[in-house]
Amino acid sequence: MRQVPLLDLKAQYSTLKDEIMTAVSEVLESQICIGGPKVVELEERIAKLCGCKFAVGVSSGTDAILNCLMSLDIGAGDEVITTAFTFFATAGCIARTGAKPVFVDIDPKTYNIEPSLIEAAITEKTRAIMPVHLFGQMADMDPIMETANKYNLAVIEDAAQSITSTYKGKKAGSIGNAGCFSFFPSKNLGGIGDGGMIVTSDQVLYERLVMMRNHGQNCQYHYRYVGGNFRLDPIQAAALLVKLPYIDKWSRARRQNAAYYDKKFEQTAVVTPYINPDCTSIYNQYCIRVPGRDQVVTHLREKNIGCAIYYPVPLHMQECFRYLGYGRGDLPESEKAAGEVMAIPIYPELTDEMKDYVVEAVTASVQ
Ligand SMILES: Cc1ncc(COP(=O)(O)O)c(C=O)c1O
Repeated sequence: MRQVPLLDLKAQYSTLKDEIMTAVSEVLESQICIGGPKVVELEERIAKLCGCKFAVGVSSGTDAILNCLMSLDIGAGDEVITTAFTFFATAGCIARTGAKPVFVDIDPKTYNIEPSLIEAAITEKTRAIMPVHLFGQMADMDPIMETANKYNLAVIEDAAQSITSTYKGKKAGSIGNAGCFSFFPSKNLGGIGDGGMIVTSDQVLYERLVMMRNHGQNCQYHYRYVGGNFRLDPIQAAALLVKLPYIDKWSRARRQNAAYYDKKFEQTAVVTPYINPDCTSIYNQYCIRVPGRDQVVTHLREKNIGCAIYYPVPLHMQECFRYLGYGRGDLPESEKAAGEVMAIPIYPELTDEMKDYVVEAVTASVQ
């Protein structure tokens, strides 16, 4: 039976198994089970890779965002502007600090926050803007930074899906005050469990982030702030160090797969991803927009082709955010995208035969 999964982690693991086993067993033999040289090395290499002065390893992409918000003293009474068309953690973290997520609609072509709508959402309570670099492509950062600078707002880049992607030659995470990455296994640089990283070039913020990841401790058993346990596991750091040298190769393969699909879907009703000419995408996801999306999803599943809907319910329509008072129609482009977008397999190990099978199934089921 032919099948194409949405992602095949075993295919990647089989090529790196020995190296990963060796790296993990080095950590176990050292019995340095918290922090240590692997975490430090990964931080140094990611900072350099992203064109930033500092990097702070943390327990997940979610905790990267939470730590940034807490380290900027954002909390009750504050507002943070973000997009409703993203993974839950973006706004979940804002709400967990006690601050209010304020949602702005997206650019329907890139699915990223629409910069021209941000200014109207700013109030005297606004403290920060959190653009999300969705699916591997960065948001339009120049106008976002212009607005942030005009109103003296912090910018936290949720770059969980976009490590090494670029905007006007600058790396994701290097433009705002800080950038947050996730090493969730499905990311382009995925760990063997949860993990995350924050990058920044602001030394004061860096020092605070380091304290906050360890309960706000400034010297042993003395706490200047109330932080959390947001530490990166050295076993994750060891596995990520093995994978790091391959990230460009893998992203290149994803781009090649995307170009293949783009060409095959020409002259069809399938809307392929739009890449802003100022950006390079790492294609963490290849999301198409199709008429009759749910029917296409059903057809692909029948054909044993993995696909997913990122994201079926925009965040302003989530039950837990009902208290914010949004309703249907408030963010029309986010709502439209949630009803029309779906991700198809794009992982680096896909063969042309597999891609052809996917294209055939999609085109056969699009209305
Ligand atoms: C846009 C976005 N933000 C935040 C996160 C949270 O990352 P994690 O799953 O590592 O906590 C993710 C990933 O899952 C994400 O895609």
